[in-house]
Amino acid sequence: MASERAAPLRLGSIAPNFQADTTSGPIDLHEYIGNSWVIFFSHPEDYTPVCTTELGEMARLEPEFKKRGVKLLGLSANTVGSHEGWIKDINDVTGNSPSFPIVADKERKVAYLYDMIDYQDTTNVDEKGIAFTIRSVFIIDPKKTIRCVLSYPASTGRNSAEILRIIDSLQTGDKHKITTPVNWVPGDDVIVHPSVKGEQAKELFPNLRAVKPYLRFTPLPKDA
Ligand code: BEZ
Repeated sequence: MASERAAPLRLGSIAPNFQADTTSGPIDLHEYIGNSWVIFFSHPEDYTPVCTTELGEMARLEPEFKKRGVKLLGLSANTVGSHEGWIKDINDVTGNSPSFPIVADKERKVAYLYDMIDYQDTTNVDEKGIAFTIRSVFIIDPKKTIRCVLSYPASTGRNSAEILRIIDSLQTGDKHKITTPVNWVPGDDVIVHPSVKGEQAKELFPNLRAVKPYLRFTPLPKDA
């Protein structure tokens, strides 16, 4: 029998479109993406401690994301009015005020569409006992393709530097035929993509260093 379940969101899925109210007015996700990358990230609830620190940090880092052609889009399972009051607190606490839109998803419509719901933590529920959202991150490219998915529990704040690092890795990999090794940060050597063989590898990356035939490190070309 055919399953009633929506297809799972995998790396390579087109980000499902939706319309929703946000702190910047109504939004259509695909229009918002336009020709940019988007980091779409969810929070359990407004006026909660970990979320407050995370949103302040994303607001602080917004110029870094902008430099990379990335727009931010938050989500929390409350109303626009609640988000607006909370943004004032975030500014008080962190000195940074999110100016990017935050989706008001009190009914969890978008959260269900993106499977951001918490089944694990039975304390992560609202006053009616409805599961809150977890800390999901979807990195979406300008073709509207999901390129990375992260899921953190409500109890663990995300690592903003890691989110930035993933963007740098994806964008560098799209530009050059490379992958990035463990703990890579921009400036470190990268790895020649396994699909690049023999002479072509030497042409593209004259300074490559083959540790094994399948593990070839290289500095990025100068124009990177
Ligand atoms: C927090 O942001 O601190 C939080 C939110 C929901 C459950 C647990 C922690």
